[in-house]
Amino acid sequence: MALHVLLVALSLLPLLEAQNPEHANVTIGTPITNETLSWLSDKWFFMGAAFRNLEYKQSVQKLQTEFFYLIPNLINDTMEVPEFLTTEDRCVYNSTHMGFQRENGTFSKNAGGVEIFAHLIVLKKHGAFMLAFDPKDEKKKGLSFYAKKPDLAPELREIFQKAVKDMGMDESEIIFVDWKKSLSDKCSQQQKQLELEKETKKDP
Ligand SMILES: *[C@@H]1O[C@H](CO)[C@@H](O)[C@H](O)[C@H]1NC(C)=O
Ligand SMILES: *[C@@H]1O[C@H](CO)[C@@H](O)[C@H](O)[C@H]1NC(C)=O
Ligand SMILES: *[C@@H]1O[C@H](CO)[C@@H](O)[C@H](O)[C@H]1NC(C)=O
Ligand SMILES: *[C@@H]1O[C@H](CO)[C@@H](O)[C@H](O)[C@H]1NC(C)=O
Ligand SMILES: *[C@@H]1O[C@H](CO)[C@@H](O)[C@H](O)[C@H]1NC(C)=O
Repeated sequence: MALHVLLVALSLLPLLEAQNPEHANVTIGTPITNETLSWLSDKWFFMGAAFRNLEYKQSVQKLQTEFFYLIPNLINDTMEVPEFLTTEDRCVYNSTHMGFQRENGTFSKNAGGVEIFAHLIVLKKHGAFMLAFDPKDEKKKGLSFYAKKPDLAPELREIFQKAVKDMGMDESEIIFVDWKKSLSDKCSQQQKQLELEKETKKDP
């Protein structure tokens, strides 16, 4: 398994050399530290993905927008993930739990009894991260992108595109979320309500 991770890390390495050294950490297998966890503990916008896994691909195709919160628990290494999806012009709220493995830098989620792993790729300087799924499986591989702000800077877009290519996929396989179409996000209203509720609860 360590070799597998190393090989994939190496195959992602060319990404950095071509660009400026700032991107030198676009590699998988980096352990997750407490520092990374506090940085991850935030609101995240789903920016796009390239999925070969048909089920994932179809769910992204149906998705208009998605934002979520990562609330990691540093003691039992689990995360609470409240998510707000807009699909078919409706807002769907869901809260799920995920695990993370510090030593090999993975997130995990139990889906119908099966544990799904994704490799975390942190892009701290860009306020973004990526998740790589099944990098060595031609039929199932995938890469998804998340950012702290719902606007995709050209530089970040380029990083995503390069990473997709480095994983042996084509740029054309990327489905981007268009956050500029504000009308496509039906959850902002609910989100505001949630914030209001929280504020109300804080008041003595
Ligand atoms: C890469 O990550 C290491 C460890 O987290 C850090 O010390 C180093 O500064 C990073 N390099 C760049 C170029 O960001
Ligand atoms: C990470 O944070 C938790 C909670 O504060 C602490 O118990 C643990 O020792 C920390 N781990 C490291 C490696 O610093
Ligand atoms: C981890 O701790 C949090 C906060 O105490 C709790 O809500 C959650 O259920 C715990 N998860 C597990 C798997 O024990
Ligand atoms: C909500 O989360 C649960 C648990 O992960 C999942 O089984 C269910 O399909 C999700 N619902 C939607 C609408 O995504
Ligand atoms: C990461 O580590 C966990 C715990 O050791 C292990 O169960 C899992 O298979 C590893 N995942 C990958 C993708 O290497």
